[in-house]
Amino acid sequence: MFWEKLRTDRLRKKVLTRPLPQHVAIITDGNGRWAQKRGLPRIVGHRQGIKAVRDIVEEAGRIGLKYLTFYSFSTENWKRPREEVQGLMSLFEEMAIKEAESLVKNGVRLRVMGRIEELPQGVQDAMRYVEDKTKEGKTLNLTLALNYGGRAEILDAVSKLFLEKGPKFDNGQLTEEEFRNYLYQPDLPDPDLLIRTSGELRLSNFLLWQVAYSEIWVTKVLWPDFKPYHLLLAIRDYQKRQRKFGRV
Ligand code: IPE
Ligand code: IPE
Ligand code: MG
Repeated sequence: MFWEKLRTDRLRKKVLTRPLPQHVAIITDGNGRWAQKRGLPRIVGHRQGIKAVRDIVEEAGRIGLKYLTFYSFSTENWKRPREEVQGLMSLFEEMAIKEAESLVKNGVRLRVMGRIEELPQGVQDAMRYVEDKTKEGKTLNLTLALNYGGRAEILDAVSKLFLEKGPKFDNGQLTEEEFRNYLYQPDLPDPDLLIRTSGELRLSNFLLWQVAYSEIWVTKVLWPDFKPYHLLLAIRDYQKRQRKFGRV
């Protein structure tokens, strides 16, 4: 505990000497494996994963990160066993209500992105509640991708665009900047840094449009074991990279 804190404090000092990424997005994978390794039901891993989320939000606030996004439930995760899906939905609902107060206190603004209207009513209500309660938050913009799929987002954007423009739509005039306005959260800057835990080397349908030029950092650490120290390691690594955006 003591050494953990010491090494985290040391690394934080280093991280704070250089510019931070504006937006960090995280694929929080490995909850199930964390539980299975201990002979526990998968849902226990998800519960533990929420603790990790809390600690990372806190660290993000401490270093002054502006945007932090978590991939919490994908459009493909409905294919999991029914009890696991139900367990996750209850956790989301419970967490939103429980954390609202402390988010407000810490100046965090929470928003959700995804096909929210397909979630159970209780989860939708809880998310609207916490979004509304935290809407004045100015320090950290926290986004939960819930029933989110990158392909679904692009399709939803195209549908909205056609609905709005109708026959006036001239496809020769569509720019990336304009298309962005039809995404779930047009104001969300693209992630500078994309983190994935538990070692898988794939995007799993996360923010497909937005990660075009994100720097990627993968760790074998399972999400429930992911500590502020690991976030700082990822940022430190990011700070040493040279981003080229196609230039020489
Ligand atoms: C990520 O952990 C959380 C969700 C997808 C909701 P997993 O549940 O995918 O954990 P693993 O990949 O099975 O270990
Ligand atoms: C990605 O993890 C989705 C979330 C973290 C919510 P998955 O565990 O669902 O991804 P795959 O199935 O391993 O690609
Ligand atoms: Mg997984």
